[in-house]
Formats: sequence, C-alpha cells, structure tokens
Amino acid sequence: MSGAAHRACLLLLFLLLSLPGTLALPSVPDYLQRGWQRLLEEGEGCTTCRPEDCPAPRGCLAGLVRDACDCCWECANLEGQICDLDNTNHFYGRCGDHLECRLDAGDLRRGEVPEPQCTCLSAQALCGSDGKTYAQICRFQEAARAQPQANLSVAHEGPCEAEPQILSPPYDIWNVTGQDVIFGCEVFAYPMASIEWRKDGAEMLLPGDDPHISVQFRGGPQKYEVTAWLQIQAVRVTDEGTYRCFARNKVGQAMALASLTVLTPDQLNMTGLLLPNPRPGPEDYVDSEEPEDYY
Ligand SMILES: *[C@@H]1O[C@H](CO)[C@@H](O)[C@H](O)[C@H]1NC(C)=O
Ligand SMILES: *[C@@H]1O[C@H](CO)[C@@H](O)[C@H](O)[C@H]1NC(C)=O
Ligand SMILES: *[C@@H]1O[C@H](CO)[C@@H](O)[C@H](O)[C@H]1NC(C)=O
Repeated sequence: MSGAAHRACLLLLFLLLSLPGTLALPSVPDYLQRGWQRLLEEGEGCTTCRPEDCPAPRGCLAGLVRDACDCCWECANLEGQICDLDNTNHFYGRCGDHLECRLDAGDLRRGEVPEPQCTCLSAQALCGSDGKTYAQICRFQEAARAQPQANLSVAHEGPCEAEPQILSPPYDIWNVTGQDVIFGCEVFAYPMASIEWRKDGAEMLLPGDDPHISVQFRGGPQKYEVTAWLQIQAVRVTDEGTYRCFARNKVGQAMALASLTVLTPDQLNMTGLLLPNPRPGPEDYVDSEEPEDYY
C-alpha cells in the first residue's frame, strides 16, 4: 500500500469514527459530507500549503476551484448544487466556471426556505459539435467534461439547426353552428419556422379570401418558438373537416392535423350531449390547454 493510499485510509477511518453515525452513512449527499469534512479540517486550521500532497481531483464536471485553505484544487459545484453565498467555499463549496451562487427567488414565493444554488450566468443556447442543442454554456461544459473522449466543441451560438418540432399540436374540436372555434399550433425551430394552415381537400392556403376565417402568428411563448392560430368565426357545417398546421424551415418540415366537427342544434339535441346553449356547463371550462375528447 502506498503512503498516500495509507493516509487516505486513515483519514476515512478517522471520519467514520468521529462523525455522528448518520453523517457517515453513504446516503448523506456528497456536498454535506464535504462540508463536515471541511469543518473538521478547519479545526486544525490551514497548515502550510504543500501542493505535492494535494490529491488530484478527477471527474470534475464544473471545473476546479481552490479549497477553503486556498491550497489544493478540488471539484467545483455544478449548476443547481447548493453553494456558499459569500463565495468563500466555507461549507458547501464554490461554483464552477460560468456559474454564480444565487438565492432562488422562486423558493421565497413558494414559501420555502431559499437555498443558494449555483446558477449559470448565461442563458444563450449553444449548438455542440455533436449536433445537440445545449441550454447554455454550463450545460455544454458539463457534457463536454463528462465525455472528454468525445472532444466536444461549440459549433456555434444559438440552437443547432434542425427541422421544426411541433410542441403543441392543434386538437380535435367539435361545436355547434354559429360558435367560434380556434386551433393552435406551437412550433420550435431554428432557424425560425414559417407556419401554414390548410384544410384537407382544398388547395388554398388559409385564410384565403374567406372573411370568417383568420390566421394569426406570434413569436413565443419561448425563445425560438412561434405559435400560429386558426380561427373560424360562426362555424358552418361546411367548415367541417381536417385542418393541417404545416411548419417549415430550410432544414425540414413538420405537420400536425386536427378535425373540426360541426353539429346543428338539432343534431346536438339528438345526441343528448350537454347543451352549450344558453351557457356552456362548467365542464367545458376545465382547462383550455387540455381539450377533452368528446367523441
Ligand atoms: C479535438 O478537436 C480539436 C478541434 O476541434 C482538434 O484540433 C483536435 O485534434 C481534436 N482531438 C482529438 C483527439 O480528436
Ligand atoms: C363552442 O364554442 C364556444 C365559443 O367559442 C366555446 O365557449 C365552447 O366551449 C365550445 N364548445 C365546445 C364543446 O367546445
Ligand atoms: C330537443 O328535443 C326535445 C325532444 O326530444 C324537444 O322537446 C326540444 O324542443 C328539442 N330542443 C331543441 C333545441 O331542438
């Protein structure tokens, strides 16, 4: 057994014996164990720094930082890990590259005790040389350090170019003649997608020259997203059919379809379904985000 390994064993034994039982259990999170270990060591104070005695930290996904004695290198904390607000590396540790220790204001609003967390300083998405989109530089570096053999690099800022993805498709709808209906289609794409609405069996791009149909587009709700709505006012029986949301950019395309069923008041009466007139029942309002299947 080498001298260093021997020392490591003794240190481990010392920790196991000196810590209260619960803390020595492997279920204790790493950072806590590290914190207690640090407090113990601090009791002895920082001795003269001898870099040659420092253990070599390995597999550090957020990079390296100096320990509390400002002597040895150790693993920095990752995004989302708890940290010391004063950036002293006193107990929980210091955040790594491109990260800052911040209190999560969201915790306060939810009435929880806020915990300082390592937060990424950037919100700029990146495209990796592996063709994957990373939310920001911190996620990218984590991935790059987790697989050094992959030799990951940043291909360019912004998401990787890819065909559009339909995040929220239009849903099947039914209603009674004379009511307004609306289809939505939320698309993520980079480069930004253009969206078209068409009705099956009709060549024409909607809205065409039909004044009771309108189409609206808006960027969002998230970055690199665009949402398109198709509204049909005072639906007629002839509006029945299948509608397509068609998203396209220079890389590719995506498509989603939904059907519109139009009932006359007589038909509705015969089905015995709930009558939306004069006023829709509360069950029609459950959640407009999650339309129910009425068939
Ligand atoms: C890693 O990538 C860099 C630049 O992208 C290149 O110069 C280097 O040769 C690559 N190394 C390996 C081992 O592939
Ligand atoms: C029919 O349309 C009206 C008005 O747009 C809406 O309030 C109602 O919820 C719709 N009914 C159904 C069953 O979707
Ligand atoms: C619905 O049908 C019932 C008989 O089944 C009839 O009395 C009533 O008038 C009808 N209502 C409408 C709106 O047609």
